[in-house]
Amino acid sequence: MNDAVLSPPPVGQPGGPKVLLEVFGCQMNKLDAELVVGALKRSGYDFTDRDEEADAVLMVTCSIRDQSEHRVHSHLGALEVAKRQRPDLAVGVLGCMASREGEALLRRWPGLDFVLGTRDFPTVARVLDEVRADRTRVVAVDGSPQVSEERSIEVRPQRSRAFLTVMRGCDKRCTYCVVPNTRGVEVSRPMEEVLDEAHRLVDDGVVELTLLGQTVNAWGRREGRSLGELLERLEELDGLRRVRFITSHPEEMDDPLIDAMGRCRKAGLFLHLPPQSGSDAVLRRMARGYTADRYREIARVLKARIPGVQLGADVIVGFPGETDEDFEATVRLLEEVRFSQAFLFRYSPRPGTPAWGRMEDDVPEDVKRARLARLMALQHAIQEERHRSLVGTRHEVLVEGVSRRDSSRLFGRNLAFDRIVFEGDPAWTDSFVEVEIEESTSLTLAGRPVGAPAAAAR
Ligand code: SAH
Ligand code: SF4
Ligand code: F3S
Repeated sequence: MNDAVLSPPPVGQPGGPKVLLEVFGCQMNKLDAELVVGALKRSGYDFTDRDEEADAVLMVTCSIRDQSEHRVHSHLGALEVAKRQRPDLAVGVLGCMASREGEALLRRWPGLDFVLGTRDFPTVARVLDEVRADRTRVVAVDGSPQVSEERSIEVRPQRSRAFLTVMRGCDKRCTYCVVPNTRGVEVSRPMEEVLDEAHRLVDDGVVELTLLGQTVNAWGRREGRSLGELLERLEELDGLRRVRFITSHPEEMDDPLIDAMGRCRKAGLFLHLPPQSGSDAVLRRMARGYTADRYREIARVLKARIPGVQLGADVIVGFPGETDEDFEATVRLLEEVRFSQAFLFRYSPRPGTPAWGRMEDDVPEDVKRARLARLMALQHAIQEERHRSLVGTRHEVLVEGVSRRDSSRLFGRNLAFDRIVFEGDPAWTDSFVEVEIEESTSLTLAGRPVGAPAAAAR
């Protein structure tokens, strides 16, 4: 078993055939996996987290870096062996790798029964039924851009929090990125559909919504709508306390959205706004559509208009042609903007992307590693300093559950999305608790609860 397996497994139909579901990649995959769980449950399937009792193994996969695909291929290799002993075991690949590789996956892995792309997963139950009954092999990787989101809203890992897809696909062509190939063209879901789903989730106890889209701040632009308008509508939704949205693109950040964020108290104090690099030459080759100074300006306006707002980063080091000077420009950007969290990656060339075959992966691996290590050390120091400054302050924390690393403690997040651990009763999960920070490191904030928890999920 590996950490991509959902453990404990979702609640299915007792007595039904058992599915082991593995989920890799980003939040979109996590939500797609919930939709898959809902569809399978409606069709009578049950779930397990144990290989040996599974009737079917399904993987919701990610293609973003070579390593992401590597893990899935090694598991498919192991399943080939398992299938020799248990020919009835059904094996399916869903998600981004399915869209990217399609038929080729079936050719490479004779034990694989079906491949369903990122816009085809709504058919998963029918396909799995078919495969189990007839032992046919199925490939579907060309679903309509308008994915029908038949959602069983009660199927979600946590009562108080939920993801909500507001847009699928991506129309940018960042030269390193496979997502436009795997997720297809950008389609925003209509306002009414989004609000209806939000209402249903809130009625079912959700107090924190995370709106998902690859360029979520461009939501609705083709239909004359804007994310700011959606935030204002959600602000009026009684019972909903927090609204997050990921991921925003710097090129799509505009003043009306920043103003709306400032007005909407539920929108919180955190914005994931990946700069990717601090070098204009690299940003140009990445086709990101902004300069480092434009990024600085957006960060400045955000911080001026939304007191206390924190920014989150994604950064790629070792992009083709990245010189020492380019890298130093990225170091400066991190030093100046002082992100509250940052995901740092080494560039991984991906087949089918605009950079593939056109830009040589010419930064040696050891240089990439050294640059990554330097950024990590810098980011640690920045976080450590910020965390230290928070000691003694109080925060309203939405409790997510028992800490995995220390089962005697709970963890949750404040409005700025900082993770905070503290001692308390596991029954407080899904409630809001006031916590005073007492200790900090670069990675954690630890505190003690002040007063009794306020019930959140109803
Ligand atoms: N839509 C989001 C991010 C999608 S992918 C956005 O535009 O910001 C998540 C992150 O993975 C990216 O922000 C990028 O930093 C990283 N990433 C994407 N492709 C990569 C590649 N080929 N090599 C290394 N990191 C990559
Ligand atoms: Fe990829 Fe760029 Fe689209 Fe983000 S905006 S998903 S990085 S192509
Ligand atoms: Fe990976 Fe696909 Fe998400 S490639 S990062 S799972 S959109």
